[in-house]
This record gives sequence, structure tokens and C-alpha cells, in this order.
Amino acid sequence: MNYDKSNMISVLEDFPKQLKVAVELADKRKAEGKFSNVVVCGMGGSGIGGELVKPFVHSIPVFSHHDYGLPSFVNRNSLVFIVSYSGNTEETLSAYHEAKKRRCKVIVITSGGKLAKLEKNSIIVPKGLQPRAALGYLFIPILVVLANSGIIALQDRAIAEAINAINIEYDKKKAHVLAKFIHNRIPVFYASGTFAAVAYRMKTQINECSKQPAFFHVLPEMNHNEINGFKMLGKELAVVFVKDDKDSEHITKRIEATRKLIHNRTNVIELTVKGKSLLARMLKMIYVGDLAAYYLALLNKTDPTPVPVIEKLKKILK
Ligand code: F6R
Repeated sequence: MNYDKSNMISVLEDFPKQLKVAVELADKRKAEGKFSNVVVCGMGGSGIGGELVKPFVHSIPVFSHHDYGLPSFVNRNSLVFIVSYSGNTEETLSAYHEAKKRRCKVIVITSGGKLAKLEKNSIIVPKGLQPRAALGYLFIPILVVLANSGIIALQDRAIAEAINAINIEYDKKKAHVLAKFIHNRIPVFYASGTFAAVAYRMKTQINECSKQPAFFHVLPEMNHNEINGFKMLGKELAVVFVKDDKDSEHITKRIEATRKLIHNRTNVIELTVKGKSLLARMLKMIYVGDLAAYYLALLNKTDPTPVPVIEKLKKILK
């Protein structure tokens, strides 16, 4: 696929196609062996896949690593995904070298750079995108490899459902409403533990695309601290409850009660996603969030595509 880098909206409109191609990229790949854990290493837009994959892995522990090196428990029985869109991110390269040193089973997902040179058997994804706009390419291959390796259930139907569930015009309308609600406020996204990565993605997309502060937290934990913090500056915030139609009764009750307790002190909106499979619901909500971050960038009069401050920092640290 050829992309016009400057046009984030055309990349977003292509997201269903990206999901389809992403499945093909990892089609026959599997990790042979018996593993005691799965570790997914990556930063920012390349690291979110490690968070998103957590609710799908039930048979062994899964750990999402966003740092140099590797956690101490990782050894030759670990299956390690090394994910970096550019292939040049220093923390992820450091994790790669450590994984090789500890003789882990390593699967690299990248569009090129140093990683592609180091690992000839990498899953190579299309170039020319912002990493965060390549979510399908970076996340779906992790699921496909895990399914092919017998670690998680096959996700083919769920991916097909996600592709069908995306209704670009309808989702754009929802995203517009969300962007307008957030505009000139600081969004705080709240979700269940299962949807934590979705809420986190919504926060980071606003940071990177709309260039403004945004935060997130999960229920029930926020009920034990953050719920108490709306007395000051509440009106400056835009609280977004990121609800899954299949949230447990506990979470549904807690969201309802939390909303009642804070709505006089802050601005609140609820977004709910429906659907059969967890993956489709997660991707659908992420899609609305990605579009909202795009529209919020336009409202903020900023270019949604580049991330100059991140680039500048990388140069300083070189
Ligand atoms: C930029 C973006 C960043 C990068 C991160 C790591 O669009 O999403 O969060 O993903 O700086 O770089 P890569 O993805 O090249 O390893």
C-alpha cells in the first residue's frame, strides 16, 4: 500500500484494509516450542500491541515491556515479540539484544531499520506511516502468531467482525462529538481492566495527534483514589467513560455510581461499544478514539501527523 504520510485521515479510512493485510503478513508464522511466558517489547505506538494482547492470553503469563533490556524472569523458555515500526528505537533494540543473549524465541515486527537488518526473519510491515497509524500492522501479527502457535484461540472471525464493524461515516460522527466534547479541556479516560489498553490508546492518540495533555485510569482502582480528586479543576476536565457493552456487572455498577458522584464537579461523557467478539469491540472503540484525536487536532489547529517533540528528544539522546 502507498500512503501519503501527510494525510492522516486517508490512513484512518484505510484501517479496515490495514487489518486485512496485517493478517496476511503473519499468515504462516508460528513459534515452535513450549513457552512459559510471552513478552511483548515496544515503545509508544509500537508498544501498545503488547497491552492490547493481554486479555487474549490465558494459558501462560503475558508481559508488556516498555523499557531497556528485559525483566529478570525472561529466559530461553520465553516467547519475545520485538516490535518497532522504525526498527531503530533504542529501548527496543536493547530488548532485542538482551532477548538474543538469553536465547529467547524472538519474533521481530518492523518496517525496516536496524532491526530488519539484524533479524532476517522479521515480519516486515509496509513503510511510510507514523508508527501509531500502523496499529493494525503492529498488533494483529502478534495475535496471528500466538494463535498459529496454539497459545491463544484463533482470531480470524473476530478480525473479520472488526473489519465489518467499522462504519467509517458513522464512526466519524461519533468521533466528532467526542472531539468537540474534549476541545479546550483535558480528557481523562476511564475503562475496565480489560479495556485499559483501549483507554490508554485513546489518551496517547490525543497526546500525539492533538498535541495536548490527556490521562487515563482504570476501574475499580480509580474508585480508591482518583474519584476523590475532582474538587479542584474538575471543570477543566473532560471525563470519558470508555464502556464495553460486555463490562462485568461490577464495572457497570461502579461506572454508574462514579458518574453520579462526580458529574456536578466535572464534564462527563460515556461511550459504549457493542459487538460479539472482544477484539472487534476493542478495535472499534480504538477507531473512534483515533478519529476523535484527528478531529481534535484540527480543532486545536495542529497537524495530526508529525510528532516533532518526540523526534527532537530522540535526536538529543542520540
Ligand atoms: C509516533 C509514535 C511513537 C513511536 C515511538 C517508538 O507516531 O507512535 O510513539 O511509536 O517513538 O518508535 P518506533 O515505533 O519506531 O519503535
